[in-house]
Amino acid sequence: MSKKRAVIIDTDPGIDDAVALAIALNHEELDVKLLTTVAGNVSVAKTTDNTLKLLSFFEKEIPVAEGSAHPLINEFEDSADIHGESGMDGYDFPKPTRQIETVHAVEAMRRTILESKEPITLVPIAALTNIALLFAMYPEVKANIEEIVLMGGTMSRGNTNTSAEFNIYVDPHAAKMVFQSGVPIVMVGTDVTSVAVLTNQETEKIKTLGKVGEMFYAMFKHYRGGSLKTGLKMHDVCAIAYLVAPQLFETQATYVEIATEGPAAGATVADLKMKYHDEKNATVCVEVDVDGFRNWVINELSKI
Ligand code: RIB
Ligand code: CA
Repeated sequence: MSKKRAVIIDTDPGIDDAVALAIALNHEELDVKLLTTVAGNVSVAKTTDNTLKLLSFFEKEIPVAEGSAHPLINEFEDSADIHGESGMDGYDFPKPTRQIETVHAVEAMRRTILESKEPITLVPIAALTNIALLFAMYPEVKANIEEIVLMGGTMSRGNTNTSAEFNIYVDPHAAKMVFQSGVPIVMVGTDVTSVAVLTNQETEKIKTLGKVGEMFYAMFKHYRGGSLKTGLKMHDVCAIAYLVAPQLFETQATYVEIATEGPAAGATVADLKMKYHDEKNATVCVEVDVDGFRNWVINELSKI
């Protein structure tokens, strides 16, 4: 049995986060050391509550630490229009029994990373506020971080304004700090997450997967990241897929700059000809094996 990969997932459940966490928490190749929450799809109080609800649902004992309630500089804007007021509308989860850590997410990440015997992979599937604060307050953690595999950004069109994907749009200043941190980044953006959608064929199959399938299908009916008819966008699931099945993706190394002001704020601008930069700071997913991804999702959810 090969060694499990040690990961910390920073999340804002969020219906696509919920599917991503379900797969990550149950995957034989991943050792999820810590879950941290942040304001994003909905308030941090709700994303934290949702994370605890999912841990109870999947009967997992993993520490959860609550993070930033607010972007570094911008006013907070949620996406309750996509995920519902609760952030996970459609399914009535029992009240969570677990408690969160007594320290802030940044402190919990610092401790987990510095105490880990093996390098940690950071998996942010939300705004990058916590990650930026971590690097600003405790830059020494970078020495024990293998890489950052993040869902965010786009080299094509945005989903929040013409050029910005939501996770970067919410906190572009944090994203700029993270992309300038020097830590290796894999950017899993809407270039691939907007095509690797779950069609009716997959969602009907998921519906038959017992309690887990019933829960997800109930939420899918409320999820506005696409639709049951046109295909559901599983943005965050793509980041987990990259972690354990990178062969599903084609990538391109480049330098990604973040626009922080004006109408294109949140844009992830790739210097594809390397005209303005000498070094590359990100490996960007540019293509995905859509059928392979769909089969992988069904296979992973069937194992839970
Ligand atoms: O743009 C998609 C991203 O924004 C996903 O992480 C989704 O959960 C929302 O956070
Ligand atoms: Ca998310």
